[in-house]
Amino acid sequence: MTGGMTGGIPLPGSQAADPQAAGNQPAGNQAAEPQPSGDQPADREPWERNASWWQENFTSGADPEYEEQILPLFASHLTGARLVLDVGTGEGQIARLAASLGAGVVGADPSWAQLEVAVRRGGGAAYARADAHRLPFGDRSFDVALVCLVLEHVEDLGAALDEIARVLQPGGRLLLALNHPLLQAPGSGWIDDHILGEQYWRIGPYLREDRSLEEVAKGVLLPFVHRPLSAYVNGLAVRGLVVTRMEEPAPPPGFLALAEEYSDAASIPRLLFLRAEKLLPPAVGEQEPGDRPSTGPPGTGPLPRGLFSGGAA
Ligand SMILES: C[S@@+](CC[C@H](N)C(=O)[O-])C[C@H]1O[C@@H](n2cnc3c(N)ncnc32)[C@H](O)[C@@H]1O
Repeated sequence: MTGGMTGGIPLPGSQAADPQAAGNQPAGNQAAEPQPSGDQPADREPWERNASWWQENFTSGADPEYEEQILPLFASHLTGARLVLDVGTGEGQIARLAASLGAGVVGADPSWAQLEVAVRRGGGAAYARADAHRLPFGDRSFDVALVCLVLEHVEDLGAALDEIARVLQPGGRLLLALNHPLLQAPGSGWIDDHILGEQYWRIGPYLREDRSLEEVAKGVLLPFVHRPLSAYVNGLAVRGLVVTRMEEPAPPPGFLALAEEYSDAASIPRLLFLRAEKLLPPAVGEQEPGDRPSTGPPGTGPLPRGLFSGGAA
């Protein structure tokens, strides 16, 4: 029995992206020992080192999944957006998209190497060096927060969701894209079973939270946290972020063309997209005992601080 994987483009954290497999085990990306957790520098350095790999392979038209699927999906959910926060903006491709649709946009990312390119590429967004665990913006500053392929790299999901919920206005929306937490769990991938003459998709250990440094390309190691889908949906729900739309799009044609040897490749989504709306606060008199107003980390004020201009659109 021999095994195989979809050919394709490695979304960081996507175990199904490595085209080379041996034996009958799906070949995920190589995992190294997890880095110490806690404060951010240990998590941030890999993105600082590998930003150019990301920029070369996934931005400026290089990646069919962004071009054919991710950018159009975000565009369709940004209708009517006024002030958008792009958490983990990278080199700003979705921030530029939101700005081109008429919104005011702030892109936040802890990596200088990403922000430098974002500012250089312009497109009308402003940028701030900031970590999702501690956003330097006042409560209720934005009507839209978007987070695309970032939370899988974030150490403390609860802290990041606390911050995202805090900076969103009541009635505002969160647009969240993830490597599909179920179908792309670590160790998942196509099995090409030459004895049974079948190809099928194996799902790796799903329920176990898993932290690794993943080798997504030769010499490119990035931190990745696998969490079951319930961690995300329940994490939103307890913060008053109610899911109103879920999309599991089939991989787009440009990706499928790279996985032609797997006839059912279109049946396994790589991406999960959630839209959530932040509940309006309860009317006076309806508050539960113990309800407290949201407060930001010390030092945050009502106005965004430390913004770098990304130039005019
Ligand atoms: C896969 S890239 C996605 C970039 C961008 N959202 C896009 O879709 O083009 C992940 C980004 O998350 C950022 N990131 C990693 N850890 C983060 C954290 N704790 N808080 C905010 N962003 C983080 C990285 O610096 C990187 O730019």
